Amino acid sequence: MRKIIYPGSFDPPTNGHVDLILRASKIFDFVIVAILNNPNKNALFSLEERIEMLQEIIKKNNLKNKVEIDNFNGLLVDYLKLKKCNLVLRGLRVMSDFEYEFQMILTNRKMFPEIETIYLMPDIKWIYLSSSLIKEIASFGGDISEFVPKEIIPLVRRKFNNTKK
Ligand code: PNS
Repeated sequence: MRKIIYPGSFDPPTNGHVDLILRASKIFDFVIVAILNNPNKNALFSLEERIEMLQEIIKKNNLKNKVEIDNFNGLLVDYLKLKKCNLVLRGLRVMSDFEYEFQMILTNRKMFPEIETIYLMPDIKWIYLSSSLIKEIASFGGDISEFVPKEIIPLVRRKFNNTKK
């Protein structure tokens, strides 16, 4: 069975993340979405909130048998070894992603030579999206309905104590 691990902060998940999960679920037998649970990374959403949001997305897209939500702390390479998996999925949007990803893959490869990373590009509609932008828009009460799945809008709004759309 070909399984792949999709690690990330998912703080919060965006339509771009969903796009990637859907693409990967068509290519691989099983996708593990692994949320980084690192207290030093100062995520806005708690691990539980991010799990809840991703579970909603999995449910809505009928992916229960193909996608699992998990979390990890520490090094990604250690988590991969624990899961007995050497395949990693990452999204590529713009050139600045490339530099970051390039550095990450080469460092990870030094630590775990068997690692292979597959990059997928989201639909052009989501190429500019990032979790940070969504948090900023939501923090000022802006409309985020174009950027995140509608199921998670209430959770994002709740975070900012904002009742607008
Ligand atoms: O969604 P993000 O924030 O771009 O995801 C980054 C992530 C979680 C994949 C990366 O920060 C990571 O793997 N962190 C775990 C710690 C680690 O292994 N660091 C060394 C990377 S070279």
